This record gives sequence, C-alpha cells and structure tokens, in this order.
Amino acid sequence: MKTYIANIKGLEKNNYFVDFVRFFTIPILNNLPESFLQKFMKSSSNDAVIVMENVGSAKALEVMYGRYRRKIFSRGIIQGLADLFWHHFVAQTKGVRNRLKIVKDNLEKEIINILQNKKDKEIKILTIGGGSARGIVEVLDKYSEQLKGWNISVINIDKSTKAIELGKELAKEFNMYEKFEWINDLAQNVKFLVKENSVDIVEMVGLLDYFRDDRSKEVFTQIRSTLKENGLFMVGNIVPNKEQPFIIKMGWPKMYYRFAPDLSRLLIESGFSKEKGEIIIEPLQNHIVAIIKK
Ligand SMILES: C[S@@+](CC[C@H](N)C(=O)[O-])C[C@H]1O[C@@H](n2cnc3c(N)ncnc32)[C@H](O)[C@@H]1O
Repeated sequence: MKTYIANIKGLEKNNYFVDFVRFFTIPILNNLPESFLQKFMKSSSNDAVIVMENVGSAKALEVMYGRYRRKIFSRGIIQGLADLFWHHFVAQTKGVRNRLKIVKDNLEKEIINILQNKKDKEIKILTIGGGSARGIVEVLDKYSEQLKGWNISVINIDKSTKAIELGKELAKEFNMYEKFEWINDLAQNVKFLVKENSVDIVEMVGLLDYFRDDRSKEVFTQIRSTLKENGLFMVGNIVPNKEQPFIIKMGWPKMYYRFAPDLSRLLIESGFSKEKGEIIIEPLQNHIVAIIKK
C-alpha cells in the first residue's frame, strides 16, 4: 500500500534543541524504576496527573489534544515547565495531536468529495472507540454552513460510559447533540449494531493499538461490511518507537505496535484492496493512519 510521511500544515516536529534534550531524557525515563517514574509524573504537572489517572482512555487523549487551548505558563512557571516537557519533549503527546490532524484533514477531504458528488444529501459516519469524537465534531462544525440541509448522523460505539459522557459534553458544546447516537458496546459487535452497506465514513483511531491481529481482522471485516460501496475507512495504529518502555512503566494498557506493512496486511487479509488505500505516517513516526476505500 502506498505509504508516505504526512506533510500537512501545522503538524508538530522536533527541532534540534528538542532532539538534543530527548537524547538524554528519554533513556533516563525508560530506565527509571516504575514506581519512581509514576510518582515523578504525578508530582510534576496537572496534565500528567490526569493522563496517569486515565491511562488508555479518551480522557487522557483529550488532555493531550487540549495543549493549545491554553497558554503553556497559564498555571505558573513550575507547572508550565513540567507541561512544556510532557507536551513537547515526549513524542507521544505530539504524535497523537499529529494523528488527530491527519484524520481531520482526510475527513475534510471526504466531506468535500461527498458535498460535490452525493445526490441524496445524507452522510452517515461511524466512529468506533470514538471517545470524545473531537475530530468529527470539529470538522462537521467547520463545514456547518455547507452542510445545511444535509442529514448528518454519527454513531459512536464505545465500551466506556465515561468516554460516552465526554462525547456528549463535546457534542453539546458544538450544538450537534441531536446528530449523534452513542452506543455503549464493543467494537467486536459492530455487525449486530450497524446495518450492512449503510455507512459513508468509518473512523477507528486509538483503538486498534489494543487489538491483537486476529481481533483486528475480525473487526475490520465487520467494518468493511457496514461501509457503502466506495465508503471510506480511517484507522490509526501506534508504531514501534523509542518511548515504549516508558509508556509501559506509566501503566498504559498493553498495546500492539505496528509498522505500515503490518497494518496494510491486516486490512488486505480483511477484504480491503491495497489499490484503494494509503498509509500516512505522522512526522515523528510514532503513529500511522490508513485511509482506505471499500
Ligand atoms: C485511546 S481512546 C481513543 C479515543 C478517540 N478515538 C480518540 O482518538 O481520541 C480509546 C477508546 O476506545 C474505547 N474502547 C476500548 N476498547 C474498546 C472496545 N473493545 N470496543 C469499543 N470501544 C473500546 C475506550 O473506551 C476509549 O474511549
């Protein structure tokens, strides 16, 4: 499958200074004893505390996405320095923000394509393990004028009631609560929850990381059957990287790290065609996003 590094405006990279600091700090973080590392993080910044208390969850991601919604030193110098480190010198936080931008960029392109070509003025989006569904909410908000008169519906299947509450809050904030349906269930049950050939766009980001190969293929096959012909599937996966030992010691749930060819193989073995997709690598190379049509 065609694979390339994303070149979208606003993606975060490391400058020489950040690379220099990381050269010393990441091996130290990776080698600190687990209990010390956890205490250190919990005593450093408010954001790090929330991430530590919500590892693997939509809430933790919302903290990482929220970095630019306030000034870095708005909570004082000490907090600011700690936040600066966790948000800008640890690549994971930048990587998930890059991943979100890539997903939003491709969602925008598909919305524009649908606006230009679809006759029935209806868009059905499915997000699996959608959490806050921030990417979808922000893109729909951006295109709200063009989408006037269109019937837009979003189904979010998430196993966590806390994540669903987070999604409801965000949808309310953006005045689009009535467009959403939240289903508190598992990705593995998609085929029982969503009709075949009924969805225009499926997004599954931040979830495949937790699925073994056989579970991934089981879910991909079900997703493919929910998609309409030529419907779009966007799926992210974390990539093997230098921060793995540190992430494990933080207490993050077990993840399955994959390179682009691994993700490509899983998609093809689930019935997708390699000619209809591409894999985009975020610039720090910690996350990939596959964009593939049915
Ligand atoms: C890391 S968060 C990602 C949230 C969001 N997609 C994003 O990218 O910001 C993973 C989400 O998947 C949900 N989840 C975990 N396992 C799941 C499963 N088997 N089926 C459905 N949702 C699941 C979690 O509750 C959580 O909201």
